[in-house]
Amino acid sequence: MGNFKGKDILHGNQFTKKDVDGIIRNASYFEKELKKKDSLNLLKGKILATLFFEPSTRTRLSFEAAMQRLGGGVISLGSVESSSVAKGETLTDTVRTVSQYADVIVIRHPRLGSAKEAADAVSIPVINAGDGAGQHPTQALLDVYTIHKELGSLKNLTVSLVGDLKYGRTVHALVELLSLFRAKLYFVSPDLLRIPEEIISNLRGKGIEVVETGDMVEATQTSDLIYMTRIQKERFTQVSEYEKMKGSYIINEEFIKKLEKKITILHPLPRVDEISAEVDTYPGAAYFRQMRNGVFVRMALLAMVLGRIP
Ligand code: NCD
Repeated sequence: MGNFKGKDILHGNQFTKKDVDGIIRNASYFEKELKKKDSLNLLKGKILATLFFEPSTRTRLSFEAAMQRLGGGVISLGSVESSSVAKGETLTDTVRTVSQYADVIVIRHPRLGSAKEAADAVSIPVINAGDGAGQHPTQALLDVYTIHKELGSLKNLTVSLVGDLKYGRTVHALVELLSLFRAKLYFVSPDLLRIPEEIISNLRGKGIEVVETGDMVEATQTSDLIYMTRIQKERFTQVSEYEKMKGSYIINEEFIKKLEKKITILHPLPRVDEISAEVDTYPGAAYFRQMRNGVFVRMALLAMVLGRIP
């Protein structure tokens, strides 16, 4: 496994299979530790800064919880309106400032490439928590950690990724990791929200079997896993376009009843209407377990980039 000390976490394609296995091992270690005690001292004295220029519930709070469970401290930019960003400060100047106060930065920003831009401006590790419609690598890592736990293995899976594949950054990052384990991928989306061509050709270039379809029922019959996503309303320039797309795919009781075998359902959350609440009690519905796993995986990543575990 590569040494992550001092490294940025920016893109799903930066990990090898060995890296993913190592992160899963470390996350699993922290999950066990937290069963025995509330917190550890591993990152005592270290400070995490969270810079969120877009809304977040799970990503920001689970990073902050992870840091505190490791004994570290957290500072946060808070809302954009309450920081100097509102006065017109550039992203580069903001992160340079923050790097004087913190040991690691987690950033979410609406602009594609913004996390890389931030990382290039400072010497401390920068973790991408979502750059527009680009990447969201820590979500992808917690997704594979969840798959590993729920299904017992990551090898040779058939996965249906459903919904907004054009703007859904979690999918863009996740397929990079799934390709390391030779998954067969069904991309299920409305025509206007298809996965970027570049991602498809990249996967095919690696010899990954990829099928694009609009038919969720057909794709999921042979799948081990459904990765459901929200239609990303905030990425549309016209609300009317969003209105046409929303509700394209819905997992409800009726859909579950038609399944021939048990299937695992993941969703990065938040959901809008794409998974009905009645599905939450279905044994394969793993999205609440998935979000809890975010804490363990982010503990592993923080400890690794800060050089406290290999
Ligand atoms: C996702 C995101 O922000 O990209 N959420 C998350 O981080 N768990 C997905 C979404 O917003 O739909």
